[in-house]
Amino acid sequence: MKYLYNYRILFFIISLLSFKSALAQNTPLFTVKANQPKAKVSPNMWGVFFEDINMGADGGLYAEMVKNRSFEFFEPLMGWKTEGKGIKEGDFLVHNRKATNTNNPRYLRVKVINAAKGTVGINNEGFRGMGIKEGLQYDFSMLYKQETSNLKMHLELLNSKGEIIGETEIKPAIADGNWHKQAVSFKSNATELKGGFRIWFEGSGQIDLDMISLFPEDTWMKRPGGMRADMVQLLADMKPGFIRFPGGCIVEGFDLSNRYQWKKTVGPIEERQLIINRWNTEFNHRQTPDYFQTFGLGFFEYFQLAEDIGAEALPILNCGMACQFNTSEVVPLEDLDEYVQDALDLVEFANGDVNTKWGKLRSDMGHPKPFNLKKLGVGNENWGPQYVERLKVFNKALKAKYPDILLVFSSGANPDGPKFDLLDRELRAINADIIDEHYYRSPEWFLENVSRYDNYSRQGSKIFAGEYAAQSERIASPNNKNNWKTAIAEASFLTGLERNADVVIMASYAPLFAHVDAWQWAPDMIWVDNLQAYGTPNYQVQKLYATNKGTDVVPVLNGEQTIAGKDGYYASATIDKVTNEVIIKISNYSATAREVVFKIDGVKKLASKGSNTYLSSDNLDDVNSIQNPKNVSPKEKEVTAKGNQVKTILAPYSFNVIKFKMG
Ligand code: AHR
Repeated sequence: MKYLYNYRILFFIISLLSFKSALAQNTPLFTVKANQPKAKVSPNMWGVFFEDINMGADGGLYAEMVKNRSFEFFEPLMGWKTEGKGIKEGDFLVHNRKATNTNNPRYLRVKVINAAKGTVGINNEGFRGMGIKEGLQYDFSMLYKQETSNLKMHLELLNSKGEIIGETEIKPAIADGNWHKQAVSFKSNATELKGGFRIWFEGSGQIDLDMISLFPEDTWMKRPGGMRADMVQLLADMKPGFIRFPGGCIVEGFDLSNRYQWKKTVGPIEERQLIINRWNTEFNHRQTPDYFQTFGLGFFEYFQLAEDIGAEALPILNCGMACQFNTSEVVPLEDLDEYVQDALDLVEFANGDVNTKWGKLRSDMGHPKPFNLKKLGVGNENWGPQYVERLKVFNKALKAKYPDILLVFSSGANPDGPKFDLLDRELRAINADIIDEHYYRSPEWFLENVSRYDNYSRQGSKIFAGEYAAQSERIASPNNKNNWKTAIAEASFLTGLERNADVVIMASYAPLFAHVDAWQWAPDMIWVDNLQAYGTPNYQVQKLYATNKGTDVVPVLNGEQTIAGKDGYYASATIDKVTNEVIIKISNYSATAREVVFKIDGVKKLASKGSNTYLSSDNLDDVNSIQNPKNVSPKEKEVTAKGNQVKTILAPYSFNVIKFKMG
């Protein structure tokens, strides 16, 4: 019996040893060469791409709640309804003063006689309703003109049933036949996702109205007429290195008249000329006839936003070409001066002395200090010799006047093919500072192309991965989803960007924002309704990169090989010379939990405890949503080190950021 017992113990020990050695055989050993920095990580490496698409600005980031506040939409009363039994023909007339005001020609003339409250009114539907919060103050303002002062206006916030959830009144005070601004603030007593706003007119008289506006008081930094704080906060939380704005195809316009012209987006908001948003009618599957650009968010506001959240501003300007997916109009080379001048003037607007024309405007708008612009893009997804001819003119003029400003030029809409090859060649031939590459491809493409930059030239032009997003279906398909499969594919691919930080100096996911009821393009990084905003799994990936970038890239190797897809592992590593940490990023693109060991070479000492912040889901179809915004979001676990070895288990389909303090 005793012998049998000993035999069992022996058997148990043998099996344990053989299991351990099997585990050891299957456990890969990855080596991080923490004392061999290969490249600096650009401090601006991970940024954001902003475009007014999917109601990203009007109806989104721009907190204005009134749609068509200045009656300039093609249908002047779009978004508005007249209301009340007392209305007669001619009580509401849209006037056009084009001869005296080309930028904001229309206004609404209201004429009433002995109107009682509740008999003659107008009602605004907002951008797919208005998000209204209980207890919050709402700031109403308008421009008005009247000859006599006999009218009172009753202002009402409404819930989706049309019931009043906040009200006040305003008596336009001045009656001298000139335009004046008047404002009043009032509170809501209920929360509503799809509310509305109504004005009743009481008394007898005539009044002209324009710029009828309603903002919540809780804007970003409490700026009157500002941005939605929850949306900006999601950006600020990412600590982005830059903000690219205003796009995107919106820079190019459907045709040249519809291109983005920054000079028309600065100065008093009532003088900023509205244009149709080019995404309004772009897709049959998502027509958005009520989508315009009011430019309440203009270049000043974008520069200010960048400054607020510690990001570099990266404006992209039109190069004299309209969108080549639309009209492909080009400006004759002999007429390009106006466009080049716009670029030169933008540098003056951003950085110029307050005594210069454009520097003074910046100062008058409230920012005497320069915005410290360092980079400027010319052209978005433009291609062909016609682009090369034009960008050379910009290059020469901008470099002559502002040699320190780095210029970003486009390599077209695709990351390969003859159009890409032509531009890559031509741009390198003029030693372009930065080449902007875009890829909207399948998750598989992202995984297969993780080594894209390993063999790029180390000399000359740097790369800006200016727009990318893995497409779950196909590009511009309305069925595209921000699921975990796309996000982990991007996370894996980005290890290749980080590993090549000497070549790739900036990267941004695109597009940034989408309204759940008013989008045209999916996938998008952040989704919003009128009250809430959430980050997709793709947002969480970008945020993990941006908040864990480190200062220097170091090798992380499997033997002598980079970890770039073999057995479903994708990895990169950096050290942070400021916090004295080693930071390993690794994807486990497989359905099983797997143990890995990292040997951290070249450190005197490694802290015995570190962390693994990871994103994971067994289900690659998993998404976040307004109802479940944190479904795929970072979790954290402690990881221990023995000597210079870190052993940890990577969850199935996970992206992990492992950090240890170095001695
Ligand atoms: O991000 C959406 C669009 O995709 C951008 O406007 C354009 O540059 C690209 O084609």
